[in-house]
Amino acid sequence: MTGEPVRAETRDGIRTLTVDRPEKLNALNASVLDALDARIREAEADATLRCLIVTGAGEKAFIAGADIGELVKLTPLDGREHARRGQAVVERIENLPIPSIAAINGYAYGGGLELALACTLRIASENARMGLPETSLGILPGYGGTQRLARLLGTSRAAELILTSEKGITAADAGRLGLVNRVVPAGQALAAAMDLAQAIVKNGPIACRYALEAIRRGSEMPLSGGLAYEATLFGLCASTQDMKEGMTAFLEKRPAKFTGH
Ligand code: COA
Repeated sequence: MTGEPVRAETRDGIRTLTVDRPEKLNALNASVLDALDARIREAEADATLRCLIVTGAGEKAFIAGADIGELVKLTPLDGREHARRGQAVVERIENLPIPSIAAINGYAYGGGLELALACTLRIASENARMGLPETSLGILPGYGGTQRLARLLGTSRAAELILTSEKGITAADAGRLGLVNRVVPAGQALAAAMDLAQAIVKNGPIACRYALEAIRRGSEMPLSGGLAYEATLFGLCASTQDMKEGMTAFLEKRPAKFTGH
């Protein structure tokens, strides 16, 4: 542990945020949430970034949930504010203009899984265990879990996992369910997330940004509206130097050099 609750490191336009509270399995207390919020705002403001990775320090945990030691002290009104605060941080990741990847290197429970659900992509190491066990504590998932898990897996599977407070979702189960994109050997989640990020950042930055926007906004629209939106963003791409560069490079049998213009 470095003293910073969330460490940030940037390489090749890929910023990695590491929640660094391993002695409490990276549980999200108020200072970790504040630090995450600040680091995500910095990422939002940095136009040179192409991808964000979130992971947890240590071998055991991604994030073992919201800090139960803090939750137990909540009054009813605090409870609502607490949920809104957590939701806002998680939503900030979801709404970044760049893709985000959760490198799930161990336990991802409660708020930890909810944060991962807000990322664009998820990679789990074989030792990861996931779940939304809030009902076993007498609460419900309050950082968006009831909404995003249901949207990702369907209401029936989400209801089963949330109502039973299942803590034993293995990485293999998560892969089968479509809860994570890839499963990798223990210790490899961050490296695999980095590889995935590299595969993204070699492509046209504007094209990636618009593709993500079309997927996200389109999924909230009827198909006809989503298709119209896709066509508009396609048209905008056609006005970029990067489109000319990407296609010329293909025809000249060389790698493209995208500039984001
Ligand atoms: N909030 C606060 N502290 C937490 C925590 C959480 N969500 N998850 C783990 N910790 C703390 C433990 O209290 C313990 O602290 P201590 O050493 O001061 O006693 C430390 O992290 C290590 O956890 P421990 O339970 O001893 O590890 P384990 O390997 O036996 O079990 C888990 C790991 C993840 C199965 C277990 O810690 C757990 O069930 N955590 C809670 C998960 C949860 O319900 N999350 C949703 C919260 S809304």
